[in-house]
Amino acid sequence: MYANLKSQPVIFIIFGGTGDLNARKLAPALYNLFIDGWMPDQFAIIGTGRTPLSDQQFAEKIQDGINKYSRSGKVKKDKWDEFYKHLFYQSADAKDSKTYKEFGTRIDKLNTEWKAEANVIFYLAVSPEYFPIIAGNLSKSKLADDTKKSRIVIEKPFGHDLETSRSLNKLLSGIFNECQIYRIDHYLGKETVQNIMAFRFANALLEPIWNRNYIEHVQISVTEQLGVEERGDYYDKSGALRDMIQNHLLQLLCLVAMESPNNFNADEVRNRKVDVLNAMRKFGPEDVRLSTVRGQYSDGWMEGKEVPGYRKEPKVDPESNTETFAAIKFFIDNWRWKGVPFYVRTGKRMHQSASVISIQFRDVPHQIFPAEVSESWQQNRLVISIQPEMSIRLQVQAKRPGLEMALNTVDMVFDYKGTYTSQAPEAYETLLLDTMAGDQTLFMRGDQVEVAWDLLMPILTSWEGRKSLNFPNYSADSWGPELAEALIARDGFHWFTLPLNGKK
Ligand code: BG6
Repeated sequence: MYANLKSQPVIFIIFGGTGDLNARKLAPALYNLFIDGWMPDQFAIIGTGRTPLSDQQFAEKIQDGINKYSRSGKVKKDKWDEFYKHLFYQSADAKDSKTYKEFGTRIDKLNTEWKAEANVIFYLAVSPEYFPIIAGNLSKSKLADDTKKSRIVIEKPFGHDLETSRSLNKLLSGIFNECQIYRIDHYLGKETVQNIMAFRFANALLEPIWNRNYIEHVQISVTEQLGVEERGDYYDKSGALRDMIQNHLLQLLCLVAMESPNNFNADEVRNRKVDVLNAMRKFGPEDVRLSTVRGQYSDGWMEGKEVPGYRKEPKVDPESNTETFAAIKFFIDNWRWKGVPFYVRTGKRMHQSASVISIQFRDVPHQIFPAEVSESWQQNRLVISIQPEMSIRLQVQAKRPGLEMALNTVDMVFDYKGTYTSQAPEAYETLLLDTMAGDQTLFMRGDQVEVAWDLLMPILTSWEGRKSLNFPNYSADSWGPELAEALIARDGFHWFTLPLNGKK
């Protein structure tokens, strides 16, 4: 897949080069790709932003970011001295056409120096109001005319609702070919998330039971201990539904529910995911009332520290109606999944940080053991733990050793830590490498984003149109509002949590 990458020069132009995303994620990822030998022999990373900085000052910021956030720890001097030579900065106003002329001159100069045509990747690590401005200027300056050589990477949020995502898609497709547009959902780059497809489609034994005949229900739970903290400005206009469910959780759901693609081709894989989204049951007003729960955290204590409630976080409206927790029961109306509930939940300031998919199988058809033998009986469950634990567990019943017949639940575990010694790459490493290689499999296609928005619009409209009178309705360090327990308990289930060996 990455065969010719080494000899294909690349230029990254990072808008928002002095920002948080670059420091925390992009710079460490590019540095790790470099030290692991994945970067092409000829490459340049040009940061851009309004702050006037020299190349040297920019490089120092990048170094700081790597030192703080890279999985490989602080930079090693010899590697850094090499990497440093590829870093440049251009202070510029993204609204000004002059900026793009200067980029053009730089690109030409590098191409002449390298005696080759570089792939140019415009990375938009800026707030969404800049997307149309930058895209428009790239078009006017003709920097994106070569559909094979130029690419644009767009960070989330991709639109604020169906209408805005449609107009953003329309604007982008007027300038770029779809094969040039890389819409990021960083969950798709996570090692364990990529493994869902490998696990499902590289093993013959799962497919016969991967359907409504054997699976009773599915849970997808992404809970975070983090609060909204410094991100109030963005988050208060967004909320859990837009921030997490529209993208990350629906992507996970698609991976669990999709049909087998014919091959690993980007469009083939994405077609199968769009099929799932298209088959998901639409919500009417009554469904919103019965099948969704929203929540907002109040103050409390997290690991011995007092934390403020959401409404007291900086830049959050003290009367805010924004949800920091959402739980939804979905159905997929197709042959494979008819009648199988998919429960998803996500929340901030929850008791545990964990992203876990639990697939619960149906009960045995007939119980041959007497009640006292199977006291702790549980139905089979497949648990895919995405983070922090990276594992796949199959929970089965086994005989407890001893003279009497007694059953208990045991786990058959595939644990990354115990199986592999090498460190897993960060999601952004995978995604940046794929951007260089021109592989869009792990990126969202325009139609996919729109169908996901379309599905959630009735919930969004209902929640925004009706102020929640019981907010805040869950305290920090809890498992969310009680109604979320009721949502699943009504069907006779409970939210599954993975004991994380004492760690939260
Ligand atoms: C981001 C959301 O997309 O994902 C954040 O905007 C959230 O609110 C984050 O905290 C979670 O990502 P991860 O990789 O830490 O699970």
